[in-house]
Amino acid sequence: MPSENEILNALKEVKYPGYSRDIVSFGIVKDVAVANGAVSVSIHLTSANAEVAQQIKDECQSTLKAIEGIRVAHVQIQQPEGQDAPAGGQAPGQAQGATRVPGIAKVIAVASGKGGVGKSTVSANLACALAKRGARVGLLDCDIYGPSIPLMMGVNERPSVTEGDEKLVPLENHGIKLMSMGFLLQDDQPVIWRGPMIMRTIQQFISQVLWGELDYLLVDLPPGTGDAQISLCQTVPLDGGVIVTTPQEASLGVVRKGIEMFKKVNVPILGIVENMSYFTAPGGERVEIFGYGGGQDEAGRQGVPFLGEIPIFTEIRKGGDDGVPVVAGEPESAPSQVFLQIATQLQEILG
Ligand SMILES: Nc1ncnc2c1ncn2[C@@H]1O[C@H](COP(=O)(O)OP(=O)(O)O)[C@@H](O)[C@H]1O
Ligand SMILES: [Mg+2]
Repeated sequence: MPSENEILNALKEVKYPGYSRDIVSFGIVKDVAVANGAVSVSIHLTSANAEVAQQIKDECQSTLKAIEGIRVAHVQIQQPEGQDAPAGGQAPGQAQGATRVPGIAKVIAVASGKGGVGKSTVSANLACALAKRGARVGLLDCDIYGPSIPLMMGVNERPSVTEGDEKLVPLENHGIKLMSMGFLLQDDQPVIWRGPMIMRTIQQFISQVLWGELDYLLVDLPPGTGDAQISLCQTVPLDGGVIVTTPQEASLGVVRKGIEMFKKVNVPILGIVENMSYFTAPGGERVEIFGYGGGQDEAGRQGVPFLGEIPIFTEIRKGGDDGVPVVAGEPESAPSQVFLQIATQLQEILG
C-alpha cells in the first residue's frame, strides 16, 4: 500500500497547465488520503477556469491509477466561482453541491435518528418492493461504519472494475443493483476512512458506478442526523428523503431532527415510516412495545406525509439475517404487503 508521501511524489509528475512547475510545488494539493487501495486527493485552485480544472483532474487520475496497489482514485477540485465555473443556481428540490447522475431518475435517502431502528431493513425491503412493482432499482449502502446491506441482500463480493474507463460494476441480487462500502473493505480491516475521504468515496459510488438506467436509487445513510449525515446529503444528488423511526423515538422529537437535516440541504421530505410499531402475540393480541402512533402524530405535527407503520415480524428479522429480504422471499406474506403499500405511496408522492 503506497503511503501518502508516495502519492504526493507521484503527483509531482502532473504539471500545472501552461507551466513547467508541478501541482505539488504549487501547493495546491491538499488532503491526500489513502486506504484499502483507494486514494483521494483534493486540489484547491485559485483559478475559476473549468478547462484547467478538468485537465488537472484527468492527469491526476491517470497518474494515481498507475500507482501499484491503487484500484480507485478520486480527485476533487475546489474552485472559486467565476465566469468559467459552471453556472450557479440550484434546481428546486435538489441537494446543493451535488450533480445529478444521468440515467438515474430518482435518488432517495433513507435516514434515522439512531442505529437499530430498522433503517437498513426498510431500505432493503423497500428496494425489493419497488422492484416487485416493476421499477428498476439500485441500493447504495452509505453506512460506512456498519454496512449491513451486503448481509441483508445476501451478497458479499468484490465488485469488478471495467477496463478502460474503470467504472465499478454494481453487484446484483433479488433484482436490485447493489453497492456498499462493505464490498470494498476487508472483513478484518478496521475502518480508517477520514471524513473527506468518505465523502469522496461516496461521490464515486454515485458517479463512477455503472448503475445503468434506474428508476430509483435508494441510499441507506449512516444513522443519525449530524454533520456527517448532512455532508453526505450534500454529496449525493438527492430527490427526497424518507425518515425511519420507532414510535418511541418519534415521540422524543428525533424525527424533527431528521426533518431539519433534510431541510438544511434543501431535500424534500417524502415521508415518515414507523417501524417496530407493534407485534401480534401468539394469542392474536396486539402488543405495543414502544407505544403507538408516535410516527403518525409527529408527521401530522410537522406537516409531512406518513408512509405507514411496520409491525415487528419474525419473518422480517429472519429475512435480514438470511440475506433474503422478506419481500423477495415471501412476497405474499403480511409483512411484505406492508412494504409494498409503502412503496406504492412513495411512488405516488414522487409522481
Ligand atoms: N419490523 C421488524 N420486525 C422484526 N425485526 C426487525 C424489524 N425491523 C428491523 N428488524 C431487525 O432489527 C435489527 C436492526 O435493524 P437494522 O435494519 O439493521 O437497523 P438500522 O439499519 O437502523 O441500524 C435487525 O436485526 C433487523 O432484522
Ligand atoms: Mg443499518
